[in-house]
Amino acid sequence: MVGKQEKWRAYWDKMAAGYDKDMKFWDRLLYEGQREWVCGRAEGEVLEVAIGTGLNLPFYPSGIRLTGIDISDRMLEAARARADELGREVDLRTGDAHRLPFEDETFDTVVCTLSMCAIPDVDRAMREIHRVLRPGGRFVCIDHVVSPNRLLRGIQGIIERFSVPSAGEHLRRRPIENVRATGFDIKESDRLKGGHVERLVATK
Ligand SMILES: C[S@@+](CC[C@H](N)C(=O)[O-])C[C@H]1O[C@@H](n2cnc3c(N)ncnc32)[C@H](O)[C@@H]1O
Repeated sequence: MVGKQEKWRAYWDKMAAGYDKDMKFWDRLLYEGQREWVCGRAEGEVLEVAIGTGLNLPFYPSGIRLTGIDISDRMLEAARARADELGREVDLRTGDAHRLPFEDETFDTVVCTLSMCAIPDVDRAMREIHRVLRPGGRFVCIDHVVSPNRLLRGIQGIIERFSVPSAGEHLRRRPIENVRATGFDIKESDRLKGGHVERLVATK
């Protein structure tokens, strides 16, 4: 696992410089208004898992206290620059979603956007998210998910043969199943864009 994590760390370090430009296209196509939706549900002491370059930073309400972790230092550098530009205070740390560097029951909200497709072991990450949330705390998430259409699911399977080994990118996941299996209660969930994007709010 450690060797694999090094591979993904190096991969995301390399992707950091072009990430915002690539995401501009995908945010417009699939996720318009969704960063606002997710961040608008964050309250209190907030952890963003796999914060990347901090594209959610402009959308958090002003009253929260924000911590962000990511395995990639280059992504975090971009997030730091964005936070400075926005004048937003955020505690950014290198960290692995499989082993969150926080005490039990530290956060009121955990946010994760577009990263459950990239984190190698979603069940393990979900157990960690559950552990660091306070009782009654909220997990808010959005990601692209497995297609409801059989033909498109087949195409996703073919793409995954390349995207998983080269980029760690899974197309046929559905994090809501992992969230339920971890013992969370789903409070809100919608499938958007023909079912290819799913957002959810769950409580511990
Ligand atoms: C597709 S990007 C999403 C970034 C950001 N959440 C967004 O919405 O733009 C995936 C991010 O997951 C991070 N990542 C991948 N595996 C991780 C892990 N095990 N722990 C923490 N971060 C991880 C990558 O470094 C990258 O920043």
